[in-house]
Amino acid sequence: MRKLVAGNWKMNGNLAQLAELDAIAAAAEANSGVDVAVCPPFTLIVPARERAPGLAIGAQDVHAKDCGAHTGCISAPMLKEAGARLVIVGHSERRADQYEKDEEVRAKATAALAAGLQTIVCVGESEAQREAGEHIAVVTRQLQGSLPTERGSGELVIAYEPIWAIGTGKTATPEDVREMHAAIRNHVGKGVRILYGGSVKADNAAELFATPNVDGALVGGASLTAAQFVPIIEAAAGV
Ligand code: 13P
Repeated sequence: MRKLVAGNWKMNGNLAQLAELDAIAAAAEANSGVDVAVCPPFTLIVPARERAPGLAIGAQDVHAKDCGAHTGCISAPMLKEAGARLVIVGHSERRADQYEKDEEVRAKATAALAAGLQTIVCVGESEAQREAGEHIAVVTRQLQGSLPTERGSGELVIAYEPIWAIGTGKTATPEDVREMHAAIRNHVGKGVRILYGGSVKADNAAELFATPNVDGALVGGASLTAAQFVPIIEAAAGV
């Protein structure tokens, strides 16, 4: 499967930072065997599209309904109209900060896929759950509860992001990743890309990409600058 390297800018970036997209877009073009995407905050989607028309630009969340009385929310048709090609749903930061439950993640993913958006559904266990040996059961439960039953016309992608590896500099070992991605593969079957996320950097990317069932990466901090993100794209191209 082609690898997908997606950047999640989280609540970072501004118009000036879109200059980073020039070199990221050039690397995406030069490494045409890899799919590359950047998900900036909502307000930067349109200017990012204008700055880098060849690069896939996405969002970090979406509402399950197309329109209505939902103050502050953005729908899948709105994202499509803004030129977004993908969306991340169920990120652990939203599950924690906005109290999103599996059922809501599933509704969001269903709406995004119906609108034709590539939809990255995030799952991952906490450190305490891993220490208790519950990591596979926790992620399996999240998949059962979060994955849409209707696929729509968009592409479903899974991102395994162990919470304890996000923004901490700790990465899951290749053995941890191999075990979890095999369990996810078992659940979703062939043809669904499974990304790893959590402190992916230039110096650990190649090893992660060489791990079975790792079909790409969801990158936070290291996607904010071309200097850090481009080597990850190149590592994906080299596998
Ligand atoms: P970091 O790469 O900063 O650890 O973030 C990972 C992540 O949460 C991507 O969605």
